[in-house]
Amino acid sequence: MITFDKPLVINLKNYNEISGDNSRKIVMDAKKASFSNHSEIVIAPPPSSILALSRIKLPIISQHVDDVALGATTGFIVPEIIKSYGAVGSIINHSEHKIEHPQIKNLVKRLRDLEMISIVCAENINEVKTVSRFSPDFLAIEPPELIGKGVAVSKANPSIIKDSVQVVKQISSTVRILCGAGIVDKYDVEKALELGAEGILISSGVIKSSSWYNKILELSSVLK
Ligand code: G3P
Repeated sequence: MITFDKPLVINLKNYNEISGDNSRKIVMDAKKASFSNHSEIVIAPPPSSILALSRIKLPIISQHVDDVALGATTGFIVPEIIKSYGAVGSIINHSEHKIEHPQIKNLVKRLRDLEMISIVCAENINEVKTVSRFSPDFLAIEPPELIGKGVAVSKANPSIIKDSVQVVKQISSTVRILCGAGIVDKYDVEKALELGAEGILISSGVIKSSSWYNKILELSSVLK
């Protein structure tokens, strides 16, 4: 099973900027940055492009998975199938794609059984308490009101990261914290690490930047 020390996880969402062949370009830029500074960069593309992008040989995860069976489950994203396409894990319960807590629990276990990593998102401290009991590999704190706004959670709401780190430590010795929402530059990343985060989950700060390569290099250099 692949493991990460301090990853930069880039969620491509469904931004128009990464449509068509541009999704390949951003993964190639990320791969170049990762070679140049030996950082761990993980890409979460739209699930339909997992097979094509995983051939570039940079870790690829899904943006979402469904707790449904292999077989006649049209339109759902099934862990076993995305693994066969080269995904090494998945985001679960992103605030733009919430699911019920029992499903989160099932999916964390199912991914672990498949030797895939789970990144479970939580939007407040109560949700942090609940989902950390499911022992995902990573728990990403993302207050929804800060997502895509360019104001980093590590600066706008540092206490939510600090408190989450503390709460998670009391519940599980293995769950690690990713900081997400509004991260735009290396100072935001430094602040997140100071507060106890062990990686970053980012989207618009990279996708909307003028140079994907330069931005990924800047952010990932702080994490290596
Ligand atoms: O999944 C990452 C995310 O929701 C944070 O988005 O645009 O604030 O970096 P953004």
